[in-house]
Amino acid sequence: MLEFTERFNVRYSKFLACKRGFDQTGEYMFLSQIRKRRSIRKYTEQPVEPEKMEQIVEALLRAPTSRGLNPWEFVAVTKKSLLEELSKLKPHGASFLKDAALAIVICADPSIAETWIEDNTIAAIMGQLTAESLGLGSCWIQVRGRDYSSKQTAEAYVADLLDIPTNLKIESIIAIGYGDEEKPFKETADLQYEKVKLNSYRSLYKP
Ligand SMILES: Cc1cc2nc3c(=O)[nH]c(=O)nc-3n(C[C@H](O)[C@H](O)[C@H](O)COP(=O)(O)O)c2cc1C
Repeated sequence: MLEFTERFNVRYSKFLACKRGFDQTGEYMFLSQIRKRRSIRKYTEQPVEPEKMEQIVEALLRAPTSRGLNPWEFVAVTKKSLLEELSKLKPHGASFLKDAALAIVICADPSIAETWIEDNTIAAIMGQLTAESLGLGSCWIQVRGRDYSSKQTAEAYVADLLDIPTNLKIESIIAIGYGDEEKPFKETADLQYEKVKLNSYRSLYKP
């Protein structure tokens, strides 16, 4: 009877730990997701389920913004022909978009908030981490400041393709899909802890 009670207690404390956000090894589940995250550029043909897309969109809209001004707007793209065209937005670093199941184009109206780049970036990473937590892979594709050709910016090309009004700046596109590649996650020992200081720039932070 005592043994049963002990086993029950161990199981119950693991259950409670999970509910509080820890996994069974006592790590925060959120941090273990972050440890596993890598940029994924190869995808299977499996579509992203509408309920997963809904959760990603909700995460974007819950992103914090300066003064709560929410200058961002998003265009979700699922149509294969559009993904194919979008993948040509610049000569390098976007071709894999043609195989993604979903792309989120991250735009903003700079007249609403001068912090639009920060606001957009935070929304994008919230979308990426939510995708990761749902078993999806993702990769950021830089649009702002890139060129489609010597005559057209990548922004103008994307705006043209998706009818995005000229008052909106396009910062990036997040490519999302079920990953078709495995990447090792970085060892904690390989992280650049020398870039972190404690109390003074001259004093290294030691974990
Ligand atoms: C601001 C920014 C721009 C990026 N632009 C691109 C891009 O245009 N194409 C691409 O394939 N990856 C892009 N990436 C992904 C980076 O290459 C990737 O995050 C980096 O190499 C580290 O790899 P990891 O994400 O697997 O840890 C970008 C990432 C950031 C944060």
